[in-house]
Amino acid sequence: MKMIEVKDYQQMSQKAAELIVEKVRKNPAIHLGLATGGTPIGTYANLIEDHRKNGTSYQKVITFNLDEYIGLSGNNQNSYRYYMDKQLFNHIDIQKSNTHIPHGDALDTEKECLRYDQLIEGAGGVDLQILGIGSNGHIGFNEPGTPFESTTHIVQLTPSTIMANARYFEKMEEVPTKAITMGISTIMKSKEILLLVSGKAKKVALKRLLEGEITENFPASVLKKHPYVTIIADEAAIADLRFAVMD
Ligand code: GLP
Repeated sequence: MKMIEVKDYQQMSQKAAELIVEKVRKNPAIHLGLATGGTPIGTYANLIEDHRKNGTSYQKVITFNLDEYIGLSGNNQNSYRYYMDKQLFNHIDIQKSNTHIPHGDALDTEKECLRYDQLIEGAGGVDLQILGIGSNGHIGFNEPGTPFESTTHIVQLTPSTIMANARYFEKMEEVPTKAITMGISTIMKSKEILLLVSGKAKKVALKRLLEGEITENFPASVLKKHPYVTIIADEAAIADLRFAVMD
């Protein structure tokens, strides 16, 4: 794993966007795996700014998002489809038909998981996957205990994740308790991974990722087995850790 240390959230977002833009310019038909949550919002804002200033085009780019809440349609303001449109897709020249997110309102959610995996595989896979990390080490919505061989599947969210998400909802009853997520093996199949870690709330997770063992109890630890992972972490997340580059 390669680690890039930056000062703060703003620098992390700029650096991440720079890396993504470089890849898109090299391969205009790149398949990007995208994440939601608070972490990548600044990265997306920087991509939009670059698109406006420098004209980086997303006409041929295909995207696959990691996850979606079950029970929310794309019109729901808390769905990840809504988030992606608002934070990125509506502001760049991407074709909406090239943007894929699991359908959280599918009638048959099991079938939807299969369809999503086949869609990714049929397209030839993900070239660059952007990831955030949950404070319990989850990636996508793969909570601790998820088998490393898992493909896209339905998850029961843990109380800590439900609590972390509650800030986006008006009432506790509205916070979804289930989601569809790319599985760990789906994520690991992507050719390259960019993990973004910012803020002191992620300090413990980052330390465990860098120093702990590879275990299904801490899903992000699987990333140590991937040949091309870049972590961009800010000072607050790094805290007392002092690594420049790790192999
Ligand atoms: C959610 C998302 C994850 C994300 C995580 C961290 O659970 N499903 O993909 O990485 O939250 O969120 P944040 O970036 O807001 O800390």
